[in-house]
Amino acid sequence: MSRATNFPKLSRSLSICFLLLITINAQAQRAKSSHQQGLKDAYKKYFPIGVAVALRNLHGDEAQLIKTQFNSITAENAMKMAAIQPKEGVFYWKDADSIISFAVKNGIKVRGHNLCWHEQTPDWIFKGADGKAVTKTVLLQRLKTHITRVVNRYKGKIYAWDVVNEAIDDNPNHFLRDSKWYQICGEDFIAKAFEYAHAADPVAKLYYNDYNTERPEKREQIYRLLKSLKDKGVPVDGVGFQAHWSLQEPDESALRSAIERYSSLGLKIQITELDLSIYPWEISKRMKRPDESDVFTAELENRQVAKYAMVFKVFREYKNVITNVTFWNISDRYSWLNEFPVMGRKNYPLLFDRNLQPKKAYWEVINFKNQ
Ligand code: G3I
Repeated sequence: MSRATNFPKLSRSLSICFLLLITINAQAQRAKSSHQQGLKDAYKKYFPIGVAVALRNLHGDEAQLIKTQFNSITAENAMKMAAIQPKEGVFYWKDADSIISFAVKNGIKVRGHNLCWHEQTPDWIFKGADGKAVTKTVLLQRLKTHITRVVNRYKGKIYAWDVVNEAIDDNPNHFLRDSKWYQICGEDFIAKAFEYAHAADPVAKLYYNDYNTERPEKREQIYRLLKSLKDKGVPVDGVGFQAHWSLQEPDESALRSAIERYSSLGLKIQITELDLSIYPWEISKRMKRPDESDVFTAELENRQVAKYAMVFKVFREYKNVITNVTFWNISDRYSWLNEFPVMGRKNYPLLFDRNLQPKKAYWEVINFKNQ
């Protein structure tokens, strides 16, 4: 064949190669820029995207990732009662202050977690000098002092607080959890905690925060509690879905029903502690069994991708009531689920892997068509 006859073919091949290169380059640029911009930018028109942090995350590669991807943070442990007031009148502010400074310096919002819980609460608060349980009056006074000091200190810097955490019992035959708060105060401690927080900062948004908020039986118990608070005029702004979810639950209809049910009370919703475990829900601690695999297979990853895509689709749809979505930990490098409830078993619940690289689920969450 002559050169003249070959020329159109060559030119066509070159054009195809050229077009291919442009497409690949454009895709790479898009991927790169959306990564540099991060989750917070992709969700700018929807809600802030947060992450739970510890002090150790605030420098090095994790700090960089936080700044790129998130525009809200929550202290994973540093603001809990036992951390802040380990002894009566002895306040330890250092860690919580550092988290606030990091946020202020980087223009990141802060959710406060939490003011009243049955865990990570110091024993002294329930006991008198004689070692016996204090009266309801004393306990409520101590709760008031604690909430007033903490909320006041971060007034104007914390825009939303988890005021009461996990007060509903897991047993559907009981209403409130049989915690020391309940044993000493009855259900009044819940309303009081909200009132104390509101008095200390009337601007901060106040949340009731719990897990399994979309399981129908627990949903109805939480609904009952929130409705009674609203009916009594207690200053509660919303409900926190902890969202410690798994590949098994919630399904789309349970998630939608829960959002609709709580928001029918005029409440906002924040997704406060999101992660998607690759294992079914368990609560009792145990050791990993030798025959138990903890490999993140392609099949598990694909199921996780689909689950993340579904929940974020629903979140976007309900952007008028969902006012924050926060992940519980930054990446699979460290997740509380690596030790809980099965000691020694790895989990892979987040959007970034151990090297802080975005997982497939990240791209599914970030690359959506506007809705
Ligand atoms: O501070 C001590 C330290 O002094 C000690 O050396 C070390 C040894 O184990 O323990 C440290 O305390 C640990 C604490 O985290 C701070 O790191 C506790 O053992 C550990 O149990 C505690 O776990 C936290 C857990 O709440 C407590 O129940 C997790 O990090 C935290 O992710 C988790 O978060 C909760 C939310 O607050 C509420 N919703 C559920 C969520 C997951 O459980």
